[in-house]
Amino acid sequence: MTEITGRTAVVTGGGNGIGMGLAKELARQGAKVAVADIMLANAQKVADTIRAEGGTAIAVECDVCERSSIAAMKQAVNDALGPVQLLFANAGATSFDPLMAMSDADVDWILQVNLHGVMNTTRAFLPDMIAGKEGHIMSTASMAGLLPGWIPVHVPYSAAKAGIIGMMMNLALEMREHNIYTTSYCPGGVATGMNQNNARYRPAKFGGPGEGAVHIGEASKDHTSMDFFTPDAIAPMVLNAVRNNRAFVFDHPEQREHFARTYSAIVEACYDDAEAWHREHGTPAANPTGAVLVPS
Ligand SMILES: NC(=O)c1ccc[n+]([C@@H]2O[C@H](COP(=O)([O-])OP(=O)(O)OC[C@H]3O[C@@H](n4cnc5c(N)ncnc54)[C@H](O)[C@@H]3O)[C@@H](O)[C@H]2O)c1
Repeated sequence: MTEITGRTAVVTGGGNGIGMGLAKELARQGAKVAVADIMLANAQKVADTIRAEGGTAIAVECDVCERSSIAAMKQAVNDALGPVQLLFANAGATSFDPLMAMSDADVDWILQVNLHGVMNTTRAFLPDMIAGKEGHIMSTASMAGLLPGWIPVHVPYSAAKAGIIGMMMNLALEMREHNIYTTSYCPGGVATGMNQNNARYRPAKFGGPGEGAVHIGEASKDHTSMDFFTPDAIAPMVLNAVRNNRAFVFDHPEQREHFARTYSAIVEACYDDAEAWHREHGTPAANPTGAVLVPS
């Protein structure tokens, strides 16, 4: 079990959408909350709302693409609220442009904010969790990372989200002895400000903020017109999974079939191919130098 009441939590991207829902629900469940966001005014509004409801919250400016910004944010959180046990690495930005229509700067931005942002934030907070022998890292991934064959025209975003799923699953193995757990949240449709506000989140080094909604082309339309739940309705579900140390949280049960079909098709086709190859050509040569991965 991961304890939430009385613990200190950081929510990146807490100024809007899913992060805002998580920050408010964490406070309702008794956590002290740092709302960290590149849009400081939005983070302040969320922290004000939490305090008005009787909770404990601070707002901190942070660009998760910059290690120095994360370090400064961590220092501010530690000074105000003490060491952090719960990290919600949630900040992200999206893109529905064809890969070759994207500028290099936009590809770098989508990879850095969604993948490196989670890596950098995780590495900043892990040492205190290890020292305190307690922690939980929840990263907001996406169904686009778990099922990259589901939504078209989403290449750097799917790559980054698949990357953080791998990061969380592997980190869980490494952190087990430290009583630190990980959860990947794979939203399947939450009504947030992402499509409208996305361009405003672009840091200066990737070209700076822009205006205009995310363009969702025809290829992705069928996959993006589903039920979109509210962040407030989703947050208790995510915290329930965190409390129970679940490796994943999904929010749309009807996506189960797609998940099951995708992975069982991969298992059947690819293992059938491997078996057929072995039958026809013999087992490939192994251990040419006598080396094994884990010496006995
Ligand atoms: N809404 C969905 O259906 C959906 C689906 C799959 C995944 N997600 C993921 O959920 C997370 C939250 O997105 P959302 O839907 O709530 O969108 P949102 O646009 O409402 O919120 C994103 C928040 O992240 C902040 N942010 C952006 N870049 C940042 C940076 N460099 N540093 C710090 N903060 C930054 C923004 O200011 C904003 O407050 C993202 O990681 C997104 O990829 C959302």
